[in-house]
Amino acid sequence: MCGIIGYLGYREAYPILLNGLKKLEYRGYDSSGIAVFRKRKYNLYKTKGKVNELEKKISFYKIKMKGNTGIGHTRWATHGIPDNINAHPHVSNSNELFLIHNGIIENYHAIKIILSKNGFIFKSKTDTEVLVNLIEFVQKKNKLSLEEAVRISLNEIVGAYSIAIVDKSNPEIIVIAKLGSPLALGINEREFFISSDPVSFVNYTKNVLYLRDGEMAILRKDKDLDLRKIRDNHKLNPIIKELQINLKEIEKGNYKYFMLKEIYEQPKSIRDTLRGRLLIPNKNIDGLICIDGIESNKDIFINAKSITIVACGTSWHASLIGEYLLEELARIPVEVEYASEFRYRKPILGKKDIVIVISQSGETADTIEALKLAKKRGAFVFGICNVVSSYIARNVDAGAYTHAGPEIGVASTKSFTAQITVLTLLSLIIGKYRSTITNNRYQYLCKELKSIPEKVSQTLKIDDTIKNISQLYCHVNNFLYLGRGINFPVALEGALKLKEISYIHAEGYPAAEMKHGPIALIDEKIPVVFLSTKTGQYKKIIGNIEEIKARKGKIIAIVNEDDIQISMLADHIIKVPKISEELNPLITVIPLQLLAYQIAFLRGENVDQPRNLAKSVTVE
Ligand code: M6R
Repeated sequence: MCGIIGYLGYREAYPILLNGLKKLEYRGYDSSGIAVFRKRKYNLYKTKGKVNELEKKISFYKIKMKGNTGIGHTRWATHGIPDNINAHPHVSNSNELFLIHNGIIENYHAIKIILSKNGFIFKSKTDTEVLVNLIEFVQKKNKLSLEEAVRISLNEIVGAYSIAIVDKSNPEIIVIAKLGSPLALGINEREFFISSDPVSFVNYTKNVLYLRDGEMAILRKDKDLDLRKIRDNHKLNPIIKELQINLKEIEKGNYKYFMLKEIYEQPKSIRDTLRGRLLIPNKNIDGLICIDGIESNKDIFINAKSITIVACGTSWHASLIGEYLLEELARIPVEVEYASEFRYRKPILGKKDIVIVISQSGETADTIEALKLAKKRGAFVFGICNVVSSYIARNVDAGAYTHAGPEIGVASTKSFTAQITVLTLLSLIIGKYRSTITNNRYQYLCKELKSIPEKVSQTLKIDDTIKNISQLYCHVNNFLYLGRGINFPVALEGALKLKEISYIHAEGYPAAEMKHGPIALIDEKIPVVFLSTKTGQYKKIIGNIEEIKARKGKIIAIVNEDDIQISMLADHIIKVPKISEELNPLITVIPLQLLAYQIAFLRGENVDQPRNLAKSVTVE
């Protein structure tokens, strides 16, 4: 994971690269670098830290970043600590070739040994420096053009990459290539924009080519694009698409952080997820749910023997909610797996088994490998993704987009509620096909679903209560989140949100399980957040609250507006609107997102760019 960017055309490259890198920082932000080329001259500057640091230093040292060709990189360290030696672009031993790379070269160590034996010296600890020197070695040894040397070298590589490379003696050419990691090319008359994500060039062009795995392109100044297969140099026809990005969606507007904007966008994003899929029930017409990817594979869903849901992080938490919904409404046995574990197992799957892969980005490395394994084992693979045309979206047998819009804050918020919304729709449709729910219940849940955006809006009004609670607890060292049934995954998600952006240790647990260990942690200093809305296990939750109170823990309870009993027991209550048990997570997660945000904000953390993290994890 990292962000790569490049420009070749007639404008000054530096501002385009700098602004583009700022938009790619969600992919990594521990170090960055830019190289700009003019005739046979170049300027390269790299530094530890965020892109702002790079900008400040370039302007402080008055470095002249002049030229119409350039490449840049923002890094999330895999090989070697974040510092300016390991930062990209990496330069070959002869100081001729400049390379940026997103991905991992798995066999870099063996190649490094061979290159070292041939006199190459390495300054950094990165796999990328090995690749740029391999290209140089192949080029010099065989007297090849840059593109041919790149192609032959890449055929020796095991791993994943999206790269851009420039030879400083001929900066009128950039060679780019892709395998595994994403790479988009923006195309205008007489100019090319290279990026890991087209959000970084959408202000310049809406014409985009998404390179596919195993493809490379040779970009020449004032010439047409030359697209090739890396394996055999076969020439390909580029398929150029029009970008559908609304600029407003990728700006913070009046919000201090993207995360806060994205939390507040949820009434809209859930409405967008439902749009065209939930035919709103009214007095005269029954409600109806329709999702193309399910409709056209109706028999597969009706006859499914099992469903396995595979995902990572927040998407894995949404999967646990999916398990509850699918088993409850569609009565199909469901297993939920971490993609990173599933990919190394020997799952027992066949034609009648469905694997659902869930990923906001559609490019999480472990989830991609899980998808490939599921396909190899003959399962039908259904994808739930947010990023349109992402790898996962393109490689599943069928799927449904979440339509949450771009999510830029590293902590997932609106993509979580959109994933749950899709899973609810899916469970209801399959339940209806399989006649495992009555029409009355189906109609009732359709109506309830319709009311969700409005109820999320109401829930968002509790911001002041959350601020007060956050003031009281922002300096504690530990938090516990407890829930039961469908609210247990919400507890996990609440704990993840808090720890990833505020660095407070937090754990989510099934409320009843706490007495098997975690209860030992309880004392008067530990706040315990209870998901205690009125579900089937309400009475049991009251018992669990009593147990914590008896040990002097501080209770923060998420309760329904009409709640009396828990409100009398808890130290703090956060009131949310009432909704059917199945739809609870869509409401109960909102206060937990706000709580995590407020606490991190009060602690002065950079909410959108928490340490050590990046938005999409494209490495294993
Ligand atoms: O893009 P994905 O949904 O595949 O990402 C999976 C996780 O990396 C992600 O959900 C991560 O846990 C969140 N950013 C946490 O907020």
